[in-house]
Amino acid sequence: MLITIERVLSDSDLLHIATHLEGARWRDGRETAAGPAQQVKHNLQLDPDSTAMAAIRSVVLRRLQASVLFQSAALPRHIFPPLVNCHRDGGEYGLHTDSAVMTLGDGTPMRSDLSATVFLTAPQDYSGGDLVIESSFGAQSIKLEAGDMVLYPSSSLHCVNPVVSGSRIAACFWVQSLLADAQQREQLFELDQAIQSLTQERGLQCPQVQRLTAVYHNLVRMWAAP
Ligand code: NI
Repeated sequence: MLITIERVLSDSDLLHIATHLEGARWRDGRETAAGPAQQVKHNLQLDPDSTAMAAIRSVVLRRLQASVLFQSAALPRHIFPPLVNCHRDGGEYGLHTDSAVMTLGDGTPMRSDLSATVFLTAPQDYSGGDLVIESSFGAQSIKLEAGDMVLYPSSSLHCVNPVVSGSRIAACFWVQSLLADAQQREQLFELDQAIQSLTQERGLQCPQVQRLTAVYHNLVRMWAAP
């Protein structure tokens, strides 16, 4: 399942981030890739230890916390904190799959269930640079407005096409979900979306809304592995 979430970051968030990126230190993207991905990664990575990186992480994580759609789609247990990359001058990230297991700052291993890209540059400011994700419905090409994000299975093969003009800056992060099974996660997301719109229509006191909400929570209880 591929989910796009619009306006995760507001215009003022983007402005705040742009201020931090002025004069920021960029490093070779291969430093943060492992295995075969290293061979196909040709981009720049914002210094992970910089104050700019810390400030951007804090904004993005705060907005994810507040995003009802993100929480519903991902049911996150762990989030691997965002990294910021820049593709320019023909920079690309060839076809790869993300590492299955990542290590959090405190040494805790996490499984990557979902990968996410938050676009920080407006699409009219660069050409090329589409994120192409292979799915069972064929390859999907993604290029979103600044502040929008896409959430996709970490198991999928994906690439970033060469950026032929301008610069494409994006934040990427990974999620270990409370539900390892993608199909269970997808069904719960569908159910939750239906409950949300039914609630809008009929209100929280509607008995059917209350029953469906109980079913939703009981399914999470059955399937979640906290
Ligand atoms: Ni990737």
